[in-house]
Amino acid sequence: MNRKLNRNRKGHLEVVHDEKNKQRPILIIGGTGKTGRRVAQRLLNRGIPARIGSRTGKPPFDWNHTDSWKPILEGIGAVYITYYPDLAAPGAADAVGEFAKLAVQNGVKRLVLLSGRGEEEAQRSEKALQHSGADWTILRSSWFAQNFSEHFLLGPVLSGTIALPVGDVKEPFIDVEDIADVAVAALTDTKHVGEVYELSGPRSLTFSEVTKEIAKATRREIQYINISIESFTTELRQQGMSEEMVSLMAELFTEVLDGRNSHVVDGVERALGRDPRSFIDYVKSAATTGIWEGRK
Ligand SMILES: NC(=O)c1ccc[n+]([C@@H]2O[C@H](COP(=O)([O-])OP(=O)(O)OC[C@H]3O[C@@H](n4cnc5c(N)ncnc54)[C@H](OP(=O)(O)O)[C@@H]3O)[C@@H](O)[C@H]2O)c1
Repeated sequence: MNRKLNRNRKGHLEVVHDEKNKQRPILIIGGTGKTGRRVAQRLLNRGIPARIGSRTGKPPFDWNHTDSWKPILEGIGAVYITYYPDLAAPGAADAVGEFAKLAVQNGVKRLVLLSGRGEEEAQRSEKALQHSGADWTILRSSWFAQNFSEHFLLGPVLSGTIALPVGDVKEPFIDVEDIADVAVAALTDTKHVGEVYELSGPRSLTFSEVTKEIAKATRREIQYINISIESFTTELRQQGMSEEMVSLMAELFTEVLDGRNSHVVDGVERALGRDPRSFIDYVKSAATTGIWEGRK
């Protein structure tokens, strides 16, 4: 077994049997999602064994079916946890806490949780992780840039109108490639144990500014409209969204996007020793995939 000397949080040197834990696969809950599939690809590139935890994985994993939790943890050394649909959803903290406890009982040593900035409900999940008995790292993230290309804002971009209940509030959107880099570092290197990394991009932008950047890169006319929260929720209901998701979206847009997270934070630099990617670089790279021309 390989051993290495590491300095622990009190500054003492300790022997770390990291290789043993590295041999055990890393479980990626949400491993086909925006951050999870990038984490999986990075582990694959480095030859680190990984297992996907999702309803389509083998064995399947479902947050709503607790009997699917134990089989997926078999032989696992570390877990990257993304909760679906959102850590702010009712019941999320209880589910994350129960899952973390079960993981530790099954021999998992390290847990890395994807969380959201300024979300009271998400912080309940963070606490549950911190009390699980595992080595933990928390990635407390800003809004993803990829919401405009791989999530619920892709449709509005393609339609030429982004209509949201947000005015001049700025958000330091983060590229999920950076989240994946930090997650892989936390899953594979003990120096990130016990860290809460607040993650953001290098600059805060309003939704109107973001819309202009995407319009410029795609050479298309896209307008941004600031609508009332009532029009927004009515539109979501008309699209067939469940009441639970509608109230979750309303909470995210009113409570979380009130300016509390507008400031840029240094988690990417602290974790990786480099600057985060800019929104403009994200836009350029997403534009080259053809996603905003409906090519993908
Ligand atoms: N979007 C943002 O701006 C933002 C910002 C901060 C934090 N977050 C947090 O990010 C997390 C989501 O991470 P993500 O965006 O990387 O994931 P994602 O793209 O939303 O992907 C969802 C993943 O979860 C799986 N999944 C769906 N339903 C499931 C279920 N019932 N049980 C188990 N797995 C299920 C999906 O695979 P299958 O379909 O195969 O099951 C897929 O792998 C949320 O907890 C949210 O709070 C998001």
